[in-house]
Amino acid sequence: MEFSIKSGAPEKSRTACLVLGVFEPRRLSAPAQAVDSAAQGFVSDILRRGDMEGKCGTTLMLHKVPGILAERVLLVGLGPEREFREKEYRNAVAAAVRALTETGAAEATLCLPEVEVKKRDVGWKVSTAVVAAMEMVYRFDRLKSKPEEARRLRKLTLAVSRRLDVSPAEEGLHQGQAIACGMNLAKDLGNLPSNICTPTYLAEQAIGMAKAYDFKVQVLERKDMEKLGMGALLAVAKGTHEPPKLIILEYHGTERKQAPVALVGKGVTFDTGGISIKPAQDMDEMKFDMCGAAAVLGTFKAIAQLQLPMNVVGLIPATENMPGGRATKPGDVVTSLSGQTIEILNTDAEGRLILCDALTYAERYNPATVIDIATLTGACVIALGHVATGLFSNDDTLAKELIRAGEQTLDRAWQMPLWEDYQEQLKSNFADMANIGGRPAGSVTAACFLARFTKKFRWAHLDIAGTAWKSGKEKGATGRPVPLLTQFLINRVAEATSQRTGDRERKVAGRR
Ligand code: BES
Ligand code: MN
Ligand code: ZN
Repeated sequence: MEFSIKSGAPEKSRTACLVLGVFEPRRLSAPAQAVDSAAQGFVSDILRRGDMEGKCGTTLMLHKVPGILAERVLLVGLGPEREFREKEYRNAVAAAVRALTETGAAEATLCLPEVEVKKRDVGWKVSTAVVAAMEMVYRFDRLKSKPEEARRLRKLTLAVSRRLDVSPAEEGLHQGQAIACGMNLAKDLGNLPSNICTPTYLAEQAIGMAKAYDFKVQVLERKDMEKLGMGALLAVAKGTHEPPKLIILEYHGTERKQAPVALVGKGVTFDTGGISIKPAQDMDEMKFDMCGAAAVLGTFKAIAQLQLPMNVVGLIPATENMPGGRATKPGDVVTSLSGQTIEILNTDAEGRLILCDALTYAERYNPATVIDIATLTGACVIALGHVATGLFSNDDTLAKELIRAGEQTLDRAWQMPLWEDYQEQLKSNFADMANIGGRPAGSVTAACFLARFTKKFRWAHLDIAGTAWKSGKEKGATGRPVPLLTQFLINRVAEATSQRTGDRERKVAGRR
């Protein structure tokens, strides 16, 4: 889908469909008022007849509105003005785009960014609208023998009130498009079944992307992992016939000496549980167990499009978790890359095993910050449901930055404890630690396990088990947390820039 920005009077807009907001009860937003006066009360007359209250997410299509240049007008309910906030704004845009796809309009002008959203600027409104629109039109039909009918809606123009809003709106457009594009990649990879999306396929995707966007990529094979001593990652890969991969991406957006942010994504392309095999019910959803990896690749796509001036390393340990004659068995003890030994009491707690070696490997990049992203525990779904991603960190400033990025993008995370008190649940009689900590606080003990491998840097862990995909009728990957991660990196750059200008200003002031 194509997007553009425009300022100017809505009633003079030459478009197939003009989209206007209506608050509850039957109150016109400012652009809707402008159209209504040009149309001599045509719109308010219709509202008075009781065809629309303005409930958030409802729509009403009007044809032949007099006195304006648009072919149609789509009214979108915004709910009560007092309650109109971020989510209502996003839902209104989504509802509008859904209604538009059901009409013959190939193009439309959206006046919703002109409506005020408390504490949010025009850049936010445009970026949020672009992501919401792209989400509404996303389809995964490449595996259907007859692709669904092509949609007609091809272009959206986002209207802003003032000329001076255009440039921040363009910036928001750029960011929104990058985020949406990264999310689409993460969704596609997540939705692909495990017989197509293998560790090898993920590696090929990374290589293809590195070529297209000109960043460095390296893929470690089983024998490389053996040489390095990645006993934990290899223990998970023992039962599968698919070759495991450790995919390494390097994005250099600024001078090499600047410490990178490392993103580590769990890439279990199918999780049967291994010898500790899972029940059959819903096991198909374990094709989504590589959504952490998909989020890293999606975020790389977004930052490459944005050309962010920073360095980012992506690390993706990728393997299947399968039972088999050579598979790891409960009670087996392995030595991780860090040298710490692990008693594998449950082969279904495999995510932490592949991540711990990738996290140790991250040390060689002297990262400023390391963030891992993983569909790690069913317990996290029990704790937070499908609303918030579980956030664990050994650095509260980093945790706050991530929470803020999640709030900005409506891709929220909630901080969970990482206290020492939980560590004793990982005690083993036979090794340095066990890979499970029992039923209580399952998502916390999983994070505590990882914390034993991240002592040398600022680190956060995002447990996306509840947020990376949807079950049921709408089964499919969500593309989360690409928005959170991309926004976090954007904020980092903005922070560094404002710090540098601050430094310069202080220096100049000092000289005076
Ligand atoms: N990939 C799963 C976690 C998962 C399960 C995510 C269901 C979303 C839905 C992970 O590898 C796993 O199996 N974790 C176990 C850990 C347990 C054995 C300590 C779990 O959560 O049951
Ligand atoms: Mn598992
Ligand atoms: Zn898993």
